[in-house]
Amino acid sequence: MLRFLMIAKIAAASLMTVFVGMSVNAADRISDFSLTDSEGRFFQLSRHGDEQAIVLFSYDPQSRDARRAASDLADVAEQFEGQKVEFLMINSTGSVDKLAMREAAEKEDITLRILMDDTQLVAKELGLSRTAEVAILDPTAKEVVYRGALNDRFSQGSRARRAKEHYVADALTAFIAGQSIAAEQAESKGDEIDFSTSAAVVSSVSYANDVAPILKERCVTCHMEGGIAPFAMSSHQMVQGWSPMIREVLITKRMPPGQIGAEYSNQFHGVNQISVEETQKLVHWIDSGAGNDSSTDPLAEYKISPVKWGHGEPDMIVNIPPQTIPATGTVEYRNLVLPLDLPEDKWVKAVEFVAGDTTVLHHIIAWAQAPDTGRGRRTNPFGILNQGIGLGAYAPGNTINTYPDDAGFPLAQGSGLILQMHYTSSGKETVDASEIGIHFWDEEPERAILGGSAADLEIAIAPFEANHEMVASKKFRKDAYLTMVGPHMHYRGQDANFKLVYPDGTEEEILNVPNYQFNWQKTYDFKEPKFLPAGTEMVFRATFDNSAMNPYNPDPSAEISWGEQTWQEMMFGFFRYVDAESSEGE
Ligand code: HEC
Repeated sequence: MLRFLMIAKIAAASLMTVFVGMSVNAADRISDFSLTDSEGRFFQLSRHGDEQAIVLFSYDPQSRDARRAASDLADVAEQFEGQKVEFLMINSTGSVDKLAMREAAEKEDITLRILMDDTQLVAKELGLSRTAEVAILDPTAKEVVYRGALNDRFSQGSRARRAKEHYVADALTAFIAGQSIAAEQAESKGDEIDFSTSAAVVSSVSYANDVAPILKERCVTCHMEGGIAPFAMSSHQMVQGWSPMIREVLITKRMPPGQIGAEYSNQFHGVNQISVEETQKLVHWIDSGAGNDSSTDPLAEYKISPVKWGHGEPDMIVNIPPQTIPATGTVEYRNLVLPLDLPEDKWVKAVEFVAGDTTVLHHIIAWAQAPDTGRGRRTNPFGILNQGIGLGAYAPGNTINTYPDDAGFPLAQGSGLILQMHYTSSGKETVDASEIGIHFWDEEPERAILGGSAADLEIAIAPFEANHEMVASKKFRKDAYLTMVGPHMHYRGQDANFKLVYPDGTEEEILNVPNYQFNWQKTYDFKEPKFLPAGTEMVFRATFDNSAMNPYNPDPSAEISWGEQTWQEMMFGFFRYVDAESSEGE
């Protein structure tokens, strides 16, 4: 069995009390975890179960030992090439940002992925306490099988100039051969990781003053009685009972849903991004037994119930004719046309959807049908793919569509709505009766909201292909303000980002979605619309994971092409914008 290092033990003991309900082998067993790397890409341990071993090297560009050991590590990585061993670095200082890390890595010629352990929770989980320290993980059993120095050049007290004992290489060789790893493991001589900031954050966490307010802010909007989540955080007892599961969804970044690159979370309306400190507090509280030391229970006293219209009572409610969804089989898209009976020309300010039956409803897209002027065809977008999302769209996690202050969507008297309804059968026949709430401007706004998408319809993903990258772009011919972006893919969708390439060649990333989830598709409305000088190109990049390691993949052996159904794929970078010149100026 692994000898738990003294240092790690002291650090761990002062920062967290091991959760009482944990299994016997607590020192070695680890939970699944997720981190983003310095490039903004997502890593989740359980999605690497096809590797024999994961080697994590604790790296800090400030640490001389870590910088030196990095080149020895590269030699070991080379030695194990082609053997299903993944070598990664992890930075658990909590004090280096992604950009600084990328610059440091470039300077040091580091080509391995560097995982950013901002909360320091993964270091604690793995028992890493020093830089240049290595943890070898068994991704299937979720165990640390080795923890210690890379070789004798970087072990405690060593003055060796060249390594003679290759601890990590030996441990890997033994592990891959199914042999036991030497019990004595040398401690790394790298610098101690400074846990003092995170220790201060969690030094006096209380249920009533810290935990309950965080849960109210981040979770209870869905986790309430009658809410969309499977359990209600309606009392201390409830939360305590769910606490092991809450720990897991936090450390794997599954909840709150729809997390984006942290650097973008303040740029958009309605992003519920849990902070580093909030995560540290919740996990620490859970690891300490999830108790309540006060006489009050703020969650039990918090009386809220779901509100039907989150954006306020709409000016007009459209009842979509109830749709009967069969128990089984493919449900083709249903395109409906609904008259609106507008008494006069109107400008839409916001659109909200209330889903009828979320077990079957996958999306609704609402476009306007122009009035019949008798002078020709009314626009009929049926079957036209590349036209943006019209007035608004519903997808799980995305119910409210708003436009910026001076912009609206024109609906002339006599207009109708064209709805594309997508359902997936759920094993039980059911009826979906969804509603659309429309808010109008009192006065005509300055600008009309426009939309489009960067899309690539030529999708060809090979069976079992893990990392299929696609790029699509769109050029803006006139000065414009970008007001919304939103990625859309299906079950193989893995991550996505949007970038602007300005006419002078400079590039700017504007949104990164490291862990795209089909079940939580959001569109992102900018708080400050982005100015795009004429000639700016918007580049949408997405990757797809058709491997068996993608837990949402219905069939990794399938060859994937474009298609409307969820087991086929799409690649849409939706956007909304307004022309910079107001309509009167044209
Ligand atoms: C936008 C709504 C929403 C928010 C906000 C939200 N949840 Fe959830 N949560 C859900 C839904 C829906 C599910 C079930 C489907 C899923 O797992 O995606 C779920 C599932 C869970 C589960 C797993 C239950 C299971 O059996 O797998 C846990 C635990 C959880 N949420 C905790 C949290 C925590 C902690 C927060 C806040 C930090 C939070 N959730 C915020 C909607 C939400």
